[in-house]
Amino acid sequence: MTQSLLLRALAGETLDTPPLWMMRQAGRYLPEYRELRARAGSFVDLCLSPEMAAEVTLQPIRRYGFDAAILFSDILMVPYGLGRSLRFEEGRGPILEPIKDRSGIPVLDPDTFIARLAPICETVARVRSALGPETALIGFAGAPWTVASYMVEGGSSQDFAALKLWAYSDPDGFSVLMDTLVDATVLYLDQQIRAGSQVVKLFDSWAGAAPESLFEKWVVQPTAAIVRRLATLHPDIPIIGFARGAGVMTRGYGAATGVTALALDSGIPLAMACALQAERPVQGNLDPIALVAGGDALAAETDRILDALSGGPFVFNLGHGILPHTPLAHVEALVARVRG
Ligand code: CP3
Repeated sequence: MTQSLLLRALAGETLDTPPLWMMRQAGRYLPEYRELRARAGSFVDLCLSPEMAAEVTLQPIRRYGFDAAILFSDILMVPYGLGRSLRFEEGRGPILEPIKDRSGIPVLDPDTFIARLAPICETVARVRSALGPETALIGFAGAPWTVASYMVEGGSSQDFAALKLWAYSDPDGFSVLMDTLVDATVLYLDQQIRAGSQVVKLFDSWAGAAPESLFEKWVVQPTAAIVRRLATLHPDIPIIGFARGAGVMTRGYGAATGVTALALDSGIPLAMACALQAERPVQGNLDPIALVAGGDALAAETDRILDALSGGPFVFNLGHGILPHTPLAHVEALVARVRG
C-alpha cells in the first residue's frame, strides 16, 4: 500500500524523513510560472482556468517532487464566489470593494456560490488525476478573520483598523459577516474534498493582528465551527490550521479548534514547537529569508528544525510563503538536505 508521507505524518506517524512542501510553492520564483502567468491574463482568470491552474499546481511537483501539491488558487476566491468584486494589481496586491457596515454584507446563495467556484473544483479533480499516490493534494481556504480583513479593508492593510473597529463596536453586525464566511468556507471545502483534496488547510495569515479577546471570538470560534462541521462531513480528512503570528496563543488555538495539525510560522521557538508536537503534528517553520540566504545559514536553520522536530509527527515547510526572489538552487539544496 502506498500512502503519501504527508497523510502518514498528519495521521500522527513519526517518519525517518519528514514530508516536505512549501507554502506558495507554485509562484513567481519559478520561471515556468512566470512564463505561464505572462500569457494567462489576470490573476483571477488564471485561478478560474482549470487547465492553467492545474498546470501551475503541478509545476513545483515536476521540478522538485514535493510530497504534496497545493491547489493553485487564492483565499480571496471566497469573496469572489460571494459576488464581491476582486482584482489584483501589480505592486498593490488584491483590491476589493470594502464592506462598510451590515448593509454591505453579501448573502450566501449556495447554488450561485458553488457555480462561481466550480472551475476551482475542476482544477482539483484534474490535479488529483495527474498525481501519483505518493503525492497528496492539499485544498485550502482562508480562515474567516483573514478573509474578512480583506473584505472590510478593501485589500491589504497595515493596522487592520477598519476590521477591528467593526469587531469591537458592532459585534452583532460583524458576526453576520463571520457567520456568512463560516458557511461559505464549509461549503467550499466540502466541494474541494469531493473533487479530490485529501487534506485541507485554513490560512489565518492575520491571526496575529487580533488581541486575546478578538482572537478567541473571531479566530478560534469560527475556525472551531468550520473544523466541527467538516469533521462531520468528512471525518477522515485532516485539517491543518495556520494561525500566523498567534505566538503563545497557538497552543490554545490548537486545543480549542481541534485542527488535526498546526502550521507554525518562523516566530514560534523550536522548544515551543516541540511542546505543541506532543499534542498534534506540526508543520514548519523555516524562515523564507533563510531560504533566500542559502549556504551555511540555510543548512544550519534547516538542521535546527530537523533536529528539534524529527522525533515526532512533522511536516517540513516554510514559516510563510516562499519569496519571489528565492534562487532555485537554494530550493534544490533544501530538498536535498531534508531528504538527505
Ligand atoms: O501556496 C500555493 O502555491 C498555492 C497558491 C496560493 C496563492 N495564494 C497564490 C498567489 C495560496 C495558498 C494563497 C493564499 C493566500 N492568498 C494567502 C494566505 C497565505 C499567506 O501568504 O499568508 C493570502 C493572505 C492571500 C492573499 C493574496 N494573494 C495577496 C495579499 C496577494 C498579493 C501579494 C503577492 O504575493 O503578490 C496575492 C496574490 C497571489 N496569490 C500570487 C500567488 C502566486 C501572486 C500573484 C501573481 O502571480 O501575479
